[in-house]
Parts: sequence; C-alpha cells; structure tokens
Amino acid sequence: MTNLKIAPSILSADFTRLGDDVREVLDGGADYIHVDVMDGLFVPNITIGVPVVKSLRKVFPSAFLDVHLMIEKPGRYVDAFADAGADLLTIHVEADEPQNITEALAAIRARGVKPCLSLKPKTPAALALPWLEMLDMLLVMTVEPGFGGQSFMADQLPKIRELRSMIDLAGLSCDIEVDGGIAPDTAPLVIEAGANVLVAGSSVFGKTDRAAAMNALRG
Ligand code: DX5
Ligand code: ZN
Repeated sequence: MTNLKIAPSILSADFTRLGDDVREVLDGGADYIHVDVMDGLFVPNITIGVPVVKSLRKVFPSAFLDVHLMIEKPGRYVDAFADAGADLLTIHVEADEPQNITEALAAIRARGVKPCLSLKPKTPAALALPWLEMLDMLLVMTVEPGFGGQSFMADQLPKIRELRSMIDLAGLSCDIEVDGGIAPDTAPLVIEAGANVLVAGSSVFGKTDRAAAMNALRG
C-alpha cells in the first residue's frame, strides 16, 4: 500500500534515552512519532504530556508528531498541544459531550493541526458518522486504551471495514489509524480491512533493530 504509514509509539521507548530512541526510528523510516498522553481519568494510567511534545518538536523540527490524547475533556488542551508543536491531535469521542467534541475538533483545525477522532473497542463505528467530514484521520483502538503491550483485538476488524466503506461512500479522504497490538502478524489483517496508519509500540521499540521491525510491519 503506497500510503501506508508507520507510527512508532514512544510509550514503549526508553524514557531515559528518548531522543536517541526517536532518532533511531526516524532514521529507520518512521512516518510519524506517536505520543500517548494519558490523564489517569479517561484511562487508568498516567504517561506524558505537553513538555515532552515541546522537547521533541525542538530537537526534531521536521518530525510528524501524532499526539493521541487519552484525556477527559480534551478541548481544554488543544491550544497547549498546538503551541507545543503537535502536527495531529487525536481526541476520543467518549471523552466529552458531542457538542464539545465538535468544538474541540474545530479548534484543532483552526490551529492548523490535523484533527483525528478515536473510538475505543466498545464504541460502534456509527458514532463517528457526525464528525466524518471534519476529520483528517480516524483512530480505531485495537486494544482497550491505557497500556502498551496488550493483545490485538481481532473483533475490531469489522469496525475498520465499516469505517473504510463509510469514508469511501462519502467520497472523503480520511486516513484510518489503528493502535494496539500491531505486529507483523496482525498488520496484514488491519491493512486488508482498510487501515493505512499503523501505531506500533512494543513491536518496534521492543526490538533491537527498529528499522527491521518497521520493515516487517510494512510487509
Ligand atoms: C494504548 C496506546 C498505544 C500503545 C500501543 O493505550 O494508545 O499507543 O502504546 O502499544 P503496543 O503497540 O505495544 O500495543
Ligand atoms: Zn496511542
């Protein structure tokens, strides 16, 4: 697939040598750097936030920073992450009231950042429908958000297919990203279903040769 993109998740990097790990995947052909932001409320884990995005932007001025906000009421932080240098901001449809989701997505676009909407595994595809035209990307979670290294949920494949046909039927050019349990054995399944941006944490940073690990995902 020509527009296939690989987005290593730094959640599985070594935070004591984050710059080196990020440089290694960028040199090895990573398309995006995926940053998992968690607030301990929307998900039962706390990770990293604005200062890390700001530091990455400073050291890697041309890297594409794909920032995944797993936080309650994400609209509160659009300006902070836009100022820090995010290229794309993902918010969760479950994280606020519909009106606030609309406003947050519009605010992301207004800041010149690409808007993406994410669905947790139990959230049906149809819930994304009202926002489809506002989006550059949809993110289908293929694990329950919160932790790296979990097993891929194959029951999300029909949802990826459903969203891909909704996008195609509407004549839109929205990317579909998948996140969770993506490895050389599961990548072909999600690609076949219609995903074109693959987040991978443990299957890239858990390997000593990160370039080879990313090539294995490209198939
Ligand atoms: C989970 C995060 C993922 C996670 C993926 O909540 O959004 O980005 O780091 O990790 P792996 O690829 O190890 O499943
Ligand atoms: Zn993520």
